[in-house]
Amino acid sequence: MGHVYLTRPLGDVVEQFRKQLPDELRTHYTAAAPPTREELVESVSGAEAIVSLVTDRIDAEVLDAAGDQLKVVSNVAVGYDNIDLDAAAERGVLVTNTPGVLDEAVADLTLALILATTRRVAEGDRFIRTGTEWIWSPEGYVGLDVSAGATLGIVGLGRIGMAVAKRAQAFGMNIIATGRRAHDDDARSLGVSPASSLNELLSAADIVSLHCPLTEDTKHLIGAQQLEAMKPGSYLINTARGPLVDEEALADAIDSGHLGGAGLDVHEFEPATNPRLRTLDSVVMLPHIGSAGDVTRNEMASLAFRNVVAVLNGEKPLTPVG
Ligand code: DGY
Repeated sequence: MGHVYLTRPLGDVVEQFRKQLPDELRTHYTAAAPPTREELVESVSGAEAIVSLVTDRIDAEVLDAAGDQLKVVSNVAVGYDNIDLDAAAERGVLVTNTPGVLDEAVADLTLALILATTRRVAEGDRFIRTGTEWIWSPEGYVGLDVSAGATLGIVGLGRIGMAVAKRAQAFGMNIIATGRRAHDDDARSLGVSPASSLNELLSAADIVSLHCPLTEDTKHLIGAQQLEAMKPGSYLINTARGPLVDEEALADAIDSGHLGGAGLDVHEFEPATNPRLRTLDSVVMLPHIGSAGDVTRNEMASLAFRNVVAVLNGEKPLTPVG
């Protein structure tokens, strides 16, 4: 009999949906570790639905291992670069994601990274923990005043970028953006000015924040040349996907003193992190926690399961990809 295969535990939401699923639900793990490649390929066999996470690579091999009865791959994430969409389409398998429900949480974390890097929060915290004697100093830990007319450049203004713009407006920042919504009225009402090109944005912004999906075209969107185009002393923030940035080039740009620092929630070779960036005090690195708000994570899981229930009941998924 077909089953729904869930690659990792997702809390209470799973129990809520268990009764609504027409098929048996199999979760491979009670632990937090993702299935190995071998375990994934073995466990999907016979599944009608796969509920996957960003750490699960769903490609032709996995889809074939599942079998012809597979109807949907429901990714518990807004990004879906872990899924081979062409391979899914060729096999008539639907792919869904979880857009919308995580915009505010990711935008909150983006602002946290902006403030942590520009105002040297993590650096100051590390210093205090050394137990070194200190006294308040007029020059101690001075950073960029984001509220004093700093310019934020949003690369890829979509839903999450708009939520970031809303917060940046409240901080009194100037905002420029590229992306599909940069010319929209609601962007203008948040004070967003459209940039005519990525280069224009890079050369004008004090802080550049990335909010575009990872595709073949956007891999290394920010490489040596683009970093060079950034304003001296400016900051790069990435809460989107690690491979958007060439991390070695970023380490060079910070090492040379050209950039002021970087805030990275995602990493080029995740879960590996760049050893050079790890040594730089002006870099704040987090373990991909953009959507890790308690309410948000439940809503992501819930939307992923609602997509599965819809497809297995012969209805249209709520949030199909593409
Ligand atoms: C997403 O939704 O794409 C995040 O990166 C994972 O939560």
